[in-house]
Amino acid sequence: MSMTFDVEKLANIPTPFYYYDTNILRQTLDAINTEVSKHDNYFVHYAVKANANLKVLKLINEAGFGIDCVSGGEIEQVLKAGFPASKIVFAGVGKSDWEIELGLEKGIFCFNVESIPELEVINEIASRLNKVATVCFRINPNVGAHTHANITTGLAENKFGIDMQDMEKVIRLAQSMTNVQCKGLHFHIGSQILEMDDFIALAQRINQLQDQLEAAGIRIEMVNVGGGLGIDYDHPLENPIPPFSDYFAVYEKHLKLRPGQTVHFELGRAIVGQCGALITKVNYVKENAIKKFVIVDAGMTDLIRPALYDAHHKIINLTATHIPHSTDGQLCYDVVGPICESSDVFDKDITLPQTKRGDLLAILSAGAYGEIMASSYNCRQLPKGYTNAELLSL
Ligand code: LLP
Repeated sequence: MSMTFDVEKLANIPTPFYYYDTNILRQTLDAINTEVSKHDNYFVHYAVKANANLKVLKLINEAGFGIDCVSGGEIEQVLKAGFPASKIVFAGVGKSDWEIELGLEKGIFCFNVESIPELEVINEIASRLNKVATVCFRINPNVGAHTHANITTGLAENKFGIDMQDMEKVIRLAQSMTNVQCKGLHFHIGSQILEMDDFIALAQRINQLQDQLEAAGIRIEMVNVGGGLGIDYDHPLENPIPPFSDYFAVYEKHLKLRPGQTVHFELGRAIVGQCGALITKVNYVKENAIKKFVIVDAGMTDLIRPALYDAHHKIINLTATHIPHSTDGQLCYDVVGPICESSDVFDKDITLPQTKRGDLLAILSAGAYGEIMASSYNCRQLPKGYTNAELLSL
């Protein structure tokens, strides 16, 4: 099943806005649950940084997922959506004191700790609050991922995590503290990864580290492998479900677990990416000597990925009258927004059916890192998000 658009209903909503197809989201969640249910020790924590829309979060919670937060604001939002605190993992390289206090007071599952100074502060705050903080250490595995430079995180040059060679020392330090309990290891090598070899390299690195720790007499209870599985931005309608079986099979085959160990995953994009589209209206079509521009009412303030990462999102015209599957009447356009920046371009030289003022376009695969990264630059309003269920009641 691919994403569906009820154009008549969509046309009643002021543009631009995000549209979430809950059928695609449910199908995606089911596909993950099918894989995860083959293992009683696999747990998926949805990375809420990808999309914190309450309606989306509620469906993910209903499907039984845990959650991965990176700020106090995210913790508050997921609690509002009904996630139990006991399923929250809390990561981030620069947690503020109030965020640590919030995590401790709510009783979250674990803190992913990224440095010794952070560990010391967590121990201090936990001791003041008379609590014991469960911690995992985020390790920088120095594994490169084949993805955009701005979204690789597992290299020594990146700011994230603790070096592998320091792990033994850090775990010993944690063991000597009264108000932290070390449960395991946390990794994340980057995002939009489609080459399974990258995840295999991570699994092998984890095995190496576990052997090393075991030789030093250190046993851990859990391994968190982070997220990063990518989606098909080129063919979202034909291929809406990411390759979950290949992804989980990598860990089943390559990760050497000790008895009783649990494996935790922090998928974001792969869960919500394909269920969302940014719907925008064409304000003008303008032509110069070499180009035809479709100027839409959405801009980089609504979806910043093309401007920030050179990301490609497929664009379709929902209202043009054209003969399906025919290339007759197709023209070449740049689709651009109204913001006063030359990087405010959604795509260049793409083929669309002849497009006119008032047409509705859908910018696909925008469910992840779309609505949540919107800004109010140029004093623009933040885009709202609607689900198909809400459209029915409009
Ligand atoms: N875990 C950690 C520690 C992370 O840093 C991230 C993403 C995830 C999990 C989820 O990764 P995912 O499964 O979604 O790939 N704004 C960028 C992506 C930034 C990703 C940041 N960290 C984009 O629009 O492509």
